[in-house]
Amino acid sequence: MSIARLFPTLVVTGRLRASVAGPLNAALLREVRQLRRDDAAGRAWSTANYPGGYTSYGSACRLHRASPTFARLQGLLARHVRAYARALRLDLGGRRLEMTDCWVNVMPRGVAHGLHLHPTSTISGTYYVQAPALSPGLKLEDPRLDRFMASPPRRGRGAAGTWVTVPARAGAFVLFESWLRHEVPVYRGRGERVSISFNYGWF
Ligand code: NI
Repeated sequence: MSIARLFPTLVVTGRLRASVAGPLNAALLREVRQLRRDDAAGRAWSTANYPGGYTSYGSACRLHRASPTFARLQGLLARHVRAYARALRLDLGGRRLEMTDCWVNVMPRGVAHGLHLHPTSTISGTYYVQAPALSPGLKLEDPRLDRFMASPPRRGRGAAGTWVTVPARAGAFVLFESWLRHEVPVYRGRGERVSISFNYGWF
């Protein structure tokens, strides 16, 4: 007999070289702090939709087009996104995956981001700018979960479990298909967890 592994869920993790990530993160952090000061609409949006934290998702969500620093991050991620699309065997019909959205998330202590997916995109991901101790990772849900009816729980952690958490580390990134549901559990550390999230589309 043989046992086939069908319909796998591919997730990319990686990190930028420390010599690149160090200065880039310092520049990104300065811009994030400036943006939060300037972005009254974003702060109001965050109060309603991201209690306790700040996100530019509702106000400045194309930062890769507004800032050379964010555009540099986009450039550094590009080859990883291309490699991911190849691994997924996506047939893009001659089109390219383009970054459509890029926004910042600042999580002080006590903030969480509930379960969601990115329904109008193809590939999504996050880059970590600053991740103090106890920063929660990105918690990915087994996409088959809503069909597990009489299915017993699975043994083990990691890829065998229902939830897999990708740790948040400054300079690291994660890429996943946008239909994969995920959340960020509550942050219980000190300082601010700062990340940049992005979407890619192919039309
Ligand atoms: Ni998300």
